[in-house]
Amino acid sequence: MQYKITSYSEDETIELAQNIESEKFPNMVICLEGDLGSGKTMFAKAFAAALGITDNITSPTFTIIKEYEGAEMKLFHMDVYRLSDIKQDIGITEYFNKKGVCIIEWADLIEDILPKNRLDIRIKIKDEYTRQFIIKPHGSKYEDLCERVL
Ligand SMILES: Nc1ncnc2c1ncn2[C@@H]1O[C@H](COP(=O)(O)OP(=O)(O)OP(=O)(O)O)[C@@H](O)[C@H]1O
Ligand SMILES: [Mg+2]
Repeated sequence: MQYKITSYSEDETIELAQNIESEKFPNMVICLEGDLGSGKTMFAKAFAAALGITDNITSPTFTIIKEYEGAEMKLFHMDVYRLSDIKQDIGITEYFNKKGVCIIEWADLIEDILPKNRLDIRIKIKDEYTRQFIIKPHGSKYEDLCERVL
């Protein structure tokens, strides 16, 4: 089962992130993949704002993992694009059990360590303002979530 949703503007992407955030739960894992500039960070920022995080969310490309305190739970925002440059184990898998939400940009690069149950979101650039979101839930919790909000 997968869902295809077309976003025609930043606002529509924000709305999609808000809808998914409304069904958040501890240890939720959202895996983002898509080309440079497709909207992974935009989605993460909108999700963070919906979580009540007011900090300026920056792309964690050089830090790999950034942690934010939301109103009800934490957000772990990761960007694993440069992970292969880092020659040490930074314990990514530990973050999957820290009771927050994990959003991972370029998650396809670490597919072998991703949890079995998760929400995969692939973003395709159609034109300047149009993005196609292909959303694939893995596991019943994520399937139910998609049924409710997509
Ligand atoms: N419908 C849309 N949804 C999301 N972003 C859009 C949309 N239309 C245009 N954009 C623009 O696309 C860009 C997305 O940039 P963003 O940094 O989120 O991409 P990214 O996937 O994180 O890239 P990178 O791989 O470099 O980290 C922004 O400049 C945003 O304004
Ligand atoms: Mg990004």
